[in-house]
Amino acid sequence: MPQLTENFTRLLARDVFSEADAQFLYDWLLERGVSNAFRAMLERWLADELKHYQALRRCYHALARVSYDEMDREAASRAKQRNIESIADFLVDEFSILLLLAYDEIGSTYSYRRDLHEFYRHFGRAIAKVGQHLVRDEGQHFSNAAELILSLYPDRLKDVQATLAQFDAREKQLARTGSYHGTFFLDHAQEQTRFPKDFNAITMQVIEARLGIAALPCQGKLKRLWQWKPVGCSFVPVP
Ligand SMILES: [Fe+2]
Ligand SMILES: [Fe+2]
Repeated sequence: MPQLTENFTRLLARDVFSEADAQFLYDWLLERGVSNAFRAMLERWLADELKHYQALRRCYHALARVSYDEMDREAASRAKQRNIESIADFLVDEFSILLLLAYDEIGSTYSYRRDLHEFYRHFGRAIAKVGQHLVRDEGQHFSNAAELILSLYPDRLKDVQATLAQFDAREKQLARTGSYHGTFFLDHAQEQTRFPKDFNAITMQVIEARLGIAALPCQGKLKRLWQWKPVGCSFVPVP
């Protein structure tokens, strides 16, 4: 259990602040202008992400005894390191932004699903509930982004596969530099060792399936997204 607690707190130390990045992304997008339908979706999305931020702060405080003041200072220091330039070319048109959101949210859904299984459910009812809400909400965010693509940009479905391949390549490139760029999107640099090698390939197929342009991966592949563990481990260690 001490090992589990140590890994969970290390995970929370990052996830708390990733959720907080939603506010930055929301402000950035609204300043540049988005369609009314996207804006309405973003309002609900931000409310959820800020709820996640507050819930994870409480979990982190309960488990690691880190004070809320300390978390505020950490959030402020991370805000200074933001670097949206590294993904700015993906944020030029709304179709690409929605697809990037879908890509991020489906990754979060499966990632939190594993975290719920390996960590959240072992730390009492309240923390288990937080984990369940995270999985449900991120899944809904993925679905909402996909629905908007289908209703607003049906003529861009032909671009989905190539655009997703660009996201995947950029994410891997950013992961190699290991830098935190704090923009909510493609921010899993520190997490690469925690996923099976084909994680992106499978989640990308899930996105394509949701958009009606591919078949859903088989159940075995979907299960591996959140049940995969490195050989000899009972849970995925958090570096
Ligand atoms: Fe979230
Ligand atoms: Fe989300």
